[in-house]
Amino acid sequence: MMPKRSVGDAAVHGRRVLVRVDFNVPLTADGTVADDRRIVEALPTLRHLETAGARTILMSHLGRPEGRRDPHLSLRPVARRLSSLLGRPVPLAEDAVGIHAIEASARLQNSEFLLLENLRFHPGEEANDPAFATQLAQLGEVFVEEAFGSVHRAHASTVGVPRRLPSCIGFLVEREVRELSRLREGVERPYVVLLGGAKVADKLPLLESFLGRADALLIGGALAFPFLARTGAHLGATAVETGLDAALERFAERAESAGTRVVLPEDWLIEVPGAADAQACGAGEVPEGAIARDIGPRTRDRFYAELRGSRTVFWNGPLGRAEDRRFAAGTREVLAGLTGLAGYHVCAGGDSARIAADLGVDGAFQYISTGGGAALEFVQGLELPGLAVIADA
Ligand code: 3PG
Repeated sequence: MMPKRSVGDAAVHGRRVLVRVDFNVPLTADGTVADDRRIVEALPTLRHLETAGARTILMSHLGRPEGRRDPHLSLRPVARRLSSLLGRPVPLAEDAVGIHAIEASARLQNSEFLLLENLRFHPGEEANDPAFATQLAQLGEVFVEEAFGSVHRAHASTVGVPRRLPSCIGFLVEREVRELSRLREGVERPYVVLLGGAKVADKLPLLESFLGRADALLIGGALAFPFLARTGAHLGATAVETGLDAALERFAERAESAGTRVVLPEDWLIEVPGAADAQACGAGEVPEGAIARDIGPRTRDRFYAELRGSRTVFWNGPLGRAEDRRFAAGTREVLAGLTGLAGYHVCAGGDSARIAADLGVDGAFQYISTGGGAALEFVQGLELPGLAVIADA
């Protein structure tokens, strides 16, 4: 991908700079920010704008309120956390557009910040409604795309606004593109991809994108169930996604000709009704009534053997039910093994970063993306609308 125009080169002094950030962060039950990584990662751009004397108007979505105002999805907790991180007040405009937003943005002085209320309280955001995009664009004179986690969405704030204003990318987006591009172009081989989680139907395009590009594709977690079921494996009472026969058949044929080793679990840790502890069994031998919950010790060794010879590793998705102490060992030990290995290791997508941090193995990675679906689409080689719309440098 060609480098994009950077905020570092934009004239921002005294100008109203509209910055799309991805402050879609998890909140606790009592409404405080549970994980501020996405806010912290945007700070270099925000500090740059502050030092350069810009008047910064931040806009983000939070959750999926589907075009309706929902007080539980207000960005107020984010405004509070951001104020304390920046060490200066960041007021929240109670609406993303309209008189409050116009007046608050017009009052901004050099180096000050304003956060607009949740963009998705308006249906026009996700619909990329031209009138809504115009109202947003009127708040600023320059646009900065700093929401890497949202660049796969063609929404008013990610596509509509940059079509209406001189635009550039922020330092976080710049870094995400630079780092994740190492998985797209000139990848150092052997390249091993480790995937877990669930929803094969959603992840098949991602899996397929690695055929021929990666040397080995290691599949764990619930993602592996339909692949094994297809070969006649007994999975007991494990819930297995169905309706994938034709797609999995095609995948197997393509994998065969692409020369990518697809490595499936050889054994599981299972949950047996009435038993307190996990038990191990062969991958195709889950007893009636038992449920496969984690990869077993033989699979961990097999995965580790593949990782040991690698130069590049991409990981997304837990290899078992990592939130349950009894079934976290697969994910934890495979990633712990990765920690000691040389090479370039990347974690991206969904909850993977949080899972690695919770298991204390986030040190396994040279790079942890802030992107969920956006990072997975980028790694697949897809064009992302929120990046495509920004002019090349
Ligand atoms: C994410 O968390 O992946 C982004 O903020 C995008 O959220 P969305 O999937 O609701 O568009």
